[in-house]
Amino acid sequence: MATTYTPSHPTKKYPPRLSHGLPYLGHALEFARDPVGLLHKGRQQFGDIFSFYLIGKQVTVLTGPNANQAFFKAPDHQLSAREAYKFTIPIFGKGIAYDASPEIMSEQIGFVFPALREERMRTYAQFMAQEAQAYFDSWGSSGEIDLLSACNELTIFIAGRCLIGEEFRTHLTTEFAHLYHDIEGALHLLGFFWPYLPLPSFKRRDKARIRMVELIAEIVANRRNQGIETEDFLQTLIAAQYSDGTALSEDNITGLLLTLLFAGQHTSAVLAAWTGILLLQHPQYLPTILQEQKQVFGENPEMSLTALGRLSDLESAIREAERMRPPLVMLMRQILEDFEYEEYTMPAGGLVMVSSAVSHRIAEVFPNPDRYDPSRFAPGREEHRQHRYALIGFGGGRHRCIGEAFAYQQVKVIWSILLQQFDLELVQGSYEPNYTTWVVGPRQPCLVRYQRK
Ligand code: HEM
Repeated sequence: MATTYTPSHPTKKYPPRLSHGLPYLGHALEFARDPVGLLHKGRQQFGDIFSFYLIGKQVTVLTGPNANQAFFKAPDHQLSAREAYKFTIPIFGKGIAYDASPEIMSEQIGFVFPALREERMRTYAQFMAQEAQAYFDSWGSSGEIDLLSACNELTIFIAGRCLIGEEFRTHLTTEFAHLYHDIEGALHLLGFFWPYLPLPSFKRRDKARIRMVELIAEIVANRRNQGIETEDFLQTLIAAQYSDGTALSEDNITGLLLTLLFAGQHTSAVLAAWTGILLLQHPQYLPTILQEQKQVFGENPEMSLTALGRLSDLESAIREAERMRPPLVMLMRQILEDFEYEEYTMPAGGLVMVSSAVSHRIAEVFPNPDRYDPSRFAPGREEHRQHRYALIGFGGGRHRCIGEAFAYQQVKVIWSILLQQFDLELVQGSYEPNYTTWVVGPRQPCLVRYQRK
């Protein structure tokens, strides 16, 4: 195995490095074109740990359950999510999430927990079903749709309803969709490295955020004045207080809602789209899933939390989509203090990443990893439970996703309604991942033909 030593630390062993990088740019061009291909290549060559250069930064890549564990268990003062995700600050806002200290950030995330309790999830199940039904009712009796665009639109409606509430959803969705689009348009590679350049897309982002705060501040003021209480995330944040008793400002509330939206909306849309594409590519699994729908909803079509909880075959299909096509293909941390894995030292100042897209395709963990096989998650096999950090589509450790149950619930509702009410078929010969965006969905167009049953 190739090893790199630097003369300044002759006793330390540094991770083996991918060769043939360009001066300064390193492997940036290859990384921008096919990041997962590059990471696979590194793992094939070196195993659990290797490094490469990206625009003057050393990036160490950890893959496999043990290396994932080391990454997720490292404390914030050693591996910092905050430093790696600074590009989110102009979106989420000053003092919010990754711009706050880890302690304040976890207090802020804690404000959201009451909005994710079981009784709330019951209410969201109804909202999700209403939104999804209304959306699919707007389709004709047959036609072709771009599945990713459809899932994106629908998950924005669902997020608007569950996060910000009915008055927002019914009156403001169009303006909100435009603002959201302008904010999202600033999430590109340049934004990761230089989020404050005077670019038109960054100006649009900043303008849109200001307007977003205004819109949400109006709703907050209205609810406070009229004493309105509803069951959505916004209400939970209006009621929340920091440990010193201060309430959250409108800017704080908007920032947290934006954090949740950006963490949860696109990722859910992409997971929903891949779930469908993979299922339709492997129609032999459809009869079991349709049978399950009949069993669960035959007597009572209501999409209650209990009914959704009984959809274990559909859940395995979603899990297999999470494994094969994880929406977030890599997670990053900035190394603040030297970090060790096995015999290697990763020096402070570099970046370290884990990659679900690579870790989920390791044959020793998931046999036949390139084969679509939802039954690998069925009782008796449960390949993802062999090691706690084998399946990492929702992260791990202290920064693990808080919205997994919400996301799974949403994807279950969407595919239950679609499969119950439509016959669907794929239009294209292939559906490949689009690595030019942070959240990796299928490349567009990604067309699906539908026929109402
Ligand atoms: C399919 C949908 C989703 C996927 C694939 C996903 C994935 C992830 C991953 C991988 C992380 C860890 C990031 C890291 O360690 O660097 C994360 C964190 C997070 N997610 Fe999700 N997520 C999804 C949906 C949601 C939803 C619906 C919400 C909110 C309702 C949400 C809220 C969050 C938050 C707040 C964090 C940060 C937690 C922390 O750092 O303490 N996510 N998510």
